[in-house]
Amino acid sequence: MGRDAATIMQRCELLGTFSEEQGRLTRPFASDAMRRAHEHATVWMREAGMAVRSDNVGNLRGRYEGVASADATLILGSHLDSVRDAGKYDGPLGVLVAIAAVHRLHAAGLRLPFGVEVVAFADEEGLRYGTSYLGSRALAGAFDLADLHLVDAQRITMAQAIRAFGGEPDRLADDRWGSRRLLGYCEVHIEQGPVLEARGVPVGVVSAITGFARRSLTFTGRAAHAGTMPMDGRLDALAAASEFVLAVEAGARAMTGLVATVGQLAVSPGAVNVVPGEVVLSLDVRHPDDLVRAEHLQRLLQRAEDIAKRRGLSVELLLIDQEDSIVCSPRLTSVLARAVRELGHPAMQLASGAGHDAVVMARITEVAMLFVRCKGGISHSPAESVTEDDVAVAIDVLSKFLGLLAENA
Ligand code: HGY
Ligand code: MN
Ligand code: MN
Repeated sequence: MGRDAATIMQRCELLGTFSEEQGRLTRPFASDAMRRAHEHATVWMREAGMAVRSDNVGNLRGRYEGVASADATLILGSHLDSVRDAGKYDGPLGVLVAIAAVHRLHAAGLRLPFGVEVVAFADEEGLRYGTSYLGSRALAGAFDLADLHLVDAQRITMAQAIRAFGGEPDRLADDRWGSRRLLGYCEVHIEQGPVLEARGVPVGVVSAITGFARRSLTFTGRAAHAGTMPMDGRLDALAAASEFVLAVEAGARAMTGLVATVGQLAVSPGAVNVVPGEVVLSLDVRHPDDLVRAEHLQRLLQRAEDIAKRRGLSVELLLIDQEDSIVCSPRLTSVLARAVRELGHPAMQLASGAGHDAVVMARITEVAMLFVRCKGGISHSPAESVTEDDVAVAIDVLSKFLGLLAENA
């Protein structure tokens, strides 16, 4: 099994070719690219001794039964969807490391005193519908059925997309974790930050995951002729939005631990000779302390209203998504840290600034996460990179983690 890290690197390359866009990796929820990813992941899960099925929301779920008397399940996993122009590791790495750890059990003919379920979540990034964590929300019984009416850029509703992918939107409640006792959820993920690289360690144990607040803001002014409307007669929605974008940056720069981002901006009507009449923009605000985040968000929204008022425009706010921060399970985290140490590495703890399916899974069970060092702290970019050696450490750690849990089950 010494080659399993190399296999994972090859599999990440292969999955990286399943994209909805030519020349760059973009794999949204319930897309054809996701279908191709599932076809391969299904084969890999089966080779690892798992029984595989797709649930209604589109999670791919592989189950490796425990010994006959096993009455509990440990869930491992991560997501197979991506952002636009993504890297190859954010999500798939965690799914593939989980499959590799189960494959080791299968190859050794080992059954644990608990079942292991590997879940490849259908949507963590929210690229297609703007709402993240659709897959884990369905599994945790936290799916908001109102989301089924959301439409994507092609005006396809989420319900239609789920149906086209083979799921039954009216039966999402069936995806919810049933009565089987849960031991916990453990996710391996690329760090997406520079901490482990700076410390010179291959993996780290996550202590907490930062929450986020996402809003959509629409500045409405008045479209006008770019050549004839004098400057003092304009109600330029883009000028107002620009003022707001700079205020978002300045506000976050002034506060330790706070990050705030405007990542999308749609300008209407969008012509070179028309004063912009409307701008829709996204706002993403994060801080490890939910209260600090909420207060700062209020200040920013007030600022947007002040800017609009001063310029004679209007601004409308829409809630897109919100998740509070979570603390990882001290019990599972200490087992994970022990696994790291027993393999001869320092068990460095770090908080996650990115969101993960573990946030939603924490609603139904204890969660733990293992981060894998990445190059230059870069993620959500094709420049995302991990080394085969570090991936090998991650497989060893996850396998050791399973062994330690089994000893104490
Ligand atoms: O946006 C996030 O934090 C994550 O990558 N879903
Ligand atoms: Mn991501
Ligand atoms: Mn991710």
